[in-house]
Amino acid sequence: MSGTSPRAFRGEILSVGGDPREDTGAVRYEADGLLVVEDGVVVARGPHADLAERWGAVPTYAVPGLIVPGFIDAHVHYPQMDRIASHGEQLLDWLERHIFPAEQAFASRAHADAVAAAFLDELLRHGTTSALVFATVHEQSVDALFAAALDRRMRIASGKVMMDRGPADLCDTVATSRAESEALIHRWRGRGRLSYAITPRFALTSSDAQMQAAGDLLAAYPDALLHTHLAENRHECDAVTARFPASRDYLDVYDGFGLVGARSVFAHGIHLSARACARLAEAGAGIAVCPSSNLFLGSGFFDFGQAQAHGVRLGLGTDIGAGTSFSLMHTGGLAYQAALAREERLDPFYALYLATAGSAHLLHIADRVGALAVGQEADFVVLDDRATPLLARRTAQASLAERLFAMQILGDDRIVAETYVLGHPAWRRAGGCSPPA
Ligand code: GUN
Ligand code: ZN
Repeated sequence: MSGTSPRAFRGEILSVGGDPREDTGAVRYEADGLLVVEDGVVVARGPHADLAERWGAVPTYAVPGLIVPGFIDAHVHYPQMDRIASHGEQLLDWLERHIFPAEQAFASRAHADAVAAAFLDELLRHGTTSALVFATVHEQSVDALFAAALDRRMRIASGKVMMDRGPADLCDTVATSRAESEALIHRWRGRGRLSYAITPRFALTSSDAQMQAAGDLLAAYPDALLHTHLAENRHECDAVTARFPASRDYLDVYDGFGLVGARSVFAHGIHLSARACARLAEAGAGIAVCPSSNLFLGSGFFDFGQAQAHGVRLGLGTDIGAGTSFSLMHTGGLAYQAALAREERLDPFYALYLATAGSAHLLHIADRVGALAVGQEADFVVLDDRATPLLARRTAQASLAERLFAMQILGDDRIVAETYVLGHPAWRRAGGCSPPA
């Protein structure tokens, strides 16, 4: 998008660039703001009154809602979108009965292409512009996702799932998992806004040798993330303890293979010891909190107080298809409810932080996205707090915090009026105003 002339977006603007529980200046809000974008990057942002003189001549679009940064899904499985709402099981049985059979279909590139396109469009409809995504064990499942993300200019990290102890028809080997991961890294490196995540599925589906291979890859490719699951469900934790009796806890299993570092993103972390939290914080590793999934699979409630006490980095994930909503606003509302179940109170601005800059920090992209700061890429969403009759009633005469919370509790894709990628409209709700091309 080089050489485009600047354009401006005028309206209400909100971002939470840091943890508002620790930094009172983290919430940035302009009731009548101006966001100026050039070549896909934010070049100015502030109160309209302050910027009008400098940018008054730039074509300006009056935005019909609240501008927030594009959402960042820190943990989601694209091959599972068509198995969402599969009834009746907790994690291990749900994987066997519903998920592994669905993932086998991704041996077909045509199937992977079709699902990847539908998945990314669904992200955009929900205001999600960046994500850390599980593919399947098949190398071509990653090719399909990266190709579709490149077309849409989205910021996507993904990787081939490593699982040499998976079912017979959804399984690789130490050698093929290493070779295919490296081939993907070399094939996609430096293209668009894509990045690679080394992705051992979880401790139960990899041999010791494969987890060591993942650790070796992480050491060899310092730009890559490490993406896996950790301490999600009681039955899973019991099975991990049975297989690794000498490890101090679940995280210690990963630590033994060099998988715990600053670029490690662990989904869930529902059942974590104080030792594991301290170790995560020490390593600079983070947790993608996935409350809709944890509720759906009966896994439990994330302990935000414990994580904060240890200084563990957090982001927010939908974990589709154990998760039940693509909406990170709604997922923020479920995080509030999960916290309350442990008698903790989650502030709506903190929930927005988790869904934007918090996830960005986890994915090591906070210099690029998440806060709509000058110099960042112009990925943003226009939210409509009157999207339904009930929301309109609840948000009338409400404070900003109340409006945000109402959208988190009552919202879904209907609150997303428009989604912009690099300053260009990527999705617009039917009946909306006409944004600039
Ligand atoms: N643990 C290992 N694989 C999975 C998965 O696909 N979904 C969830 N929620 N947990 C997992
Ligand atoms: Zn998951």
